[in-house]
Amino acid sequence: MATYDSAFGYVSAHGEPLIDLLDPQPGEKVIDLGCGAGLLTAELHARGAQPLGIDGNVHLIAQATSQFPELSFTVGDAHDFTVSDAYDAVISMSALHWMVRDPDAVIARVYSALRPGGRFVAEMGGAGNCAELIAAMQTAWREFGLTEPELPWFFPTPAGYAGRLEEAGFTVRLLEYFDRPTRMTEGPDGAADWVRVYAAEPLRDVPPPLVQPLLERVNELAAPALRRESGWVADYVRLRFAAVRKADGAPPPPGFEPFPPGPSF
Ligand SMILES: C[S@@+](CC[C@H](N)C(=O)[O-])C[C@H]1O[C@@H](n2cnc3c(N)ncnc32)[C@H](O)[C@@H]1O
Repeated sequence: MATYDSAFGYVSAHGEPLIDLLDPQPGEKVIDLGCGAGLLTAELHARGAQPLGIDGNVHLIAQATSQFPELSFTVGDAHDFTVSDAYDAVISMSALHWMVRDPDAVIARVYSALRPGGRFVAEMGGAGNCAELIAAMQTAWREFGLTEPELPWFFPTPAGYAGRLEEAGFTVRLLEYFDRPTRMTEGPDGAADWVRVYAAEPLRDVPPPLVQPLLERVNELAAPALRRESGWVADYVRLRFAAVRKADGAPPPPGFEPFPPGPSF
């Protein structure tokens, strides 16, 4: 995943609307979860927040630290990270769908990192994300007599992810689910390059002499849906949400009655 930033800079280029949704206030302490090479983290800082970038990839954190030495970054796994202070917000761009081991554990860690009322704002792949790319991979793998690739992503439905957030103690304030066709700008080899960068894991299990012909077949299969005159376009589907951590055992608001007075059953 070390090639993300150099080869596929569009991941961060799409971060602007997410930061607008977060609307960081001067001095707010914000975690950028799955920060990669830290471009979004730097943008948070430019907008006056005090960000902490967390990522599981040591190489990306080293890159972020050398590019933005004035900012705070740390290596950590989103499933079990802890922070010593309570944060005002957690933001995460194009990273939650990579955290497949236990999505509920990730949400629980975010909850613990936030102060009551803290915001969790994120964009991730949603159900149906990259359906054409994935179908092309699965068909090509089958045609080459290989076991279907185990995909390293989690693309939830809006209802499914909202349920997880609510279950974990968040109030969901906004949830968008939309197509975002995205140009594969840097890869001259279209879907094949996309697979090389983003599906490196399943590709590792392919015998080396098969890799090139397999990827050529992926390109042939994906081209009718994804190759335009102007270039290749990835069929991204996104979930973008803003949620707020509820207070722990907060006292009910004045006048609140859990049940109306009078007879009950
Ligand atoms: C597509 S990149 C996005 C990077 C950055 N947010 C951006 O928008 O440019 C996904 C990032 O999630 C990180 N990641 C994946 N699984 C993780 C985990 N379990 N804990 C922490 N980071 C993780 C990867 O190392 C990678 O940097």
